[in-house]
Amino acid sequence: MIYFDNSATTKVHPEVMKTFVAVNEKFWANPASIHEFGHQTNELLQSAREQVAEILHTSGDKVYFTSGGTESNNLAIFGLANKYKNRGRHILVSEIEHPSVLEAAKHLMKNGFEVEWIPVDSDGVILVDAVKSLLRDDTVLVSVMHVNNETGAIQPIEELSTFIRSNNRALIHVDAVQSFGKLPVHFGALDVDAITISSHKIHGLKGSGVLALKKFIEVEPMLFGGGQESGIRSGTTPVPLAVCTAKAVRLANDNVQTNAEKMKKMTEDLIPFLTSFPTVKMISPTKRAPHIISFSVRNVKGEVLINALQQKNVIVSTSSACSSRQTKTSHVLKAMHIQDDYIKGVIRLSFSSINTQEEINQFKKIFTNVMKVIKGD
Ligand SMILES: Cc1ncc(COP(=O)(O)O)c(C=O)c1O
Repeated sequence: MIYFDNSATTKVHPEVMKTFVAVNEKFWANPASIHEFGHQTNELLQSAREQVAEILHTSGDKVYFTSGGTESNNLAIFGLANKYKNRGRHILVSEIEHPSVLEAAKHLMKNGFEVEWIPVDSDGVILVDAVKSLLRDDTVLVSVMHVNNETGAIQPIEELSTFIRSNNRALIHVDAVQSFGKLPVHFGALDVDAITISSHKIHGLKGSGVLALKKFIEVEPMLFGGGQESGIRSGTTPVPLAVCTAKAVRLANDNVQTNAEKMKKMTEDLIPFLTSFPTVKMISPTKRAPHIISFSVRNVKGEVLINALQQKNVIVSTSSACSSRQTKTSHVLKAMHIQDDYIKGVIRLSFSSINTQEEINQFKKIFTNVMKVIKGD
């Protein structure tokens, strides 16, 4: 199988798998228990937290282990908006966010917050000038993803935060689910207040992730109970998942440059190949993350191409496949005003460091044959 759907999820790294088994075998105590076994397990948990904190340039008490990107995004949106609502109730969210940000923001509208949407250009990149005119004294939160999951477009976070910091007290949240492990992601590289990471996108385990806050930033809890995770996320902390998250974060971070270069080389080889077909249109902009290529074949439905490739054991997806099996037109592609004859046919190829040039070469042959059968007009 050639698996080019790594933005939907990745294969678990063998070291992560080993860690999961080892922690479950040796440190399965409740980390909140006061006996020695509990203490030892808690020490392991805290060292996982410190490892993530060090990589993200924050302090351990600002790293919350969550169930993944969706929960981290919800915690950031609800938690920051509610914690700092005395500053104002106006929120800016880009229109190309993942549904876990969009829907959380829409929900806040029912609770007295006003949400405005940051538009994007035809490359799917937010318009910082629009932010400049939308930002108000009562803007409490701005949420913009680092890399879009459907197109790979890199968002101008540095430019955005420079402008916000010099004009306003609004907090900045970045969904870094698609950028962590591919671009530098930490509070030194990105001058923001909250960062979301999901483990299963970086060869970690599904159902785990992180919300990290910059030092001194706080969130209101969303889950109430026994007060675990500094009172922010009650419920017995799943230590094996937390330790595996730290492991996946470390592996992705240690190899970020080598991995990014490898994926860039493979995708840069594929783009001229794909665009040599007269009916293929590139959807990903030039300023894209190294692991995502979106393209469309004119007047060919995405599903048709996906099925044809699948029959040859090549796994790819439609642009937004990480969120659901929905067939409705993607909000990201609509926001980019992709023309009608291309919008239904957008395919996303997403790579990981475990993909090889050999797979790319094989893909080219298979794609050429598939295109002989299914050609757009
Ligand atoms: C940009 C982005 N944010 C958030 C998520 C949600 O992450 P998770 O699947 O861990 O809930 C995804 C993927 O589904 C994503 O691509």
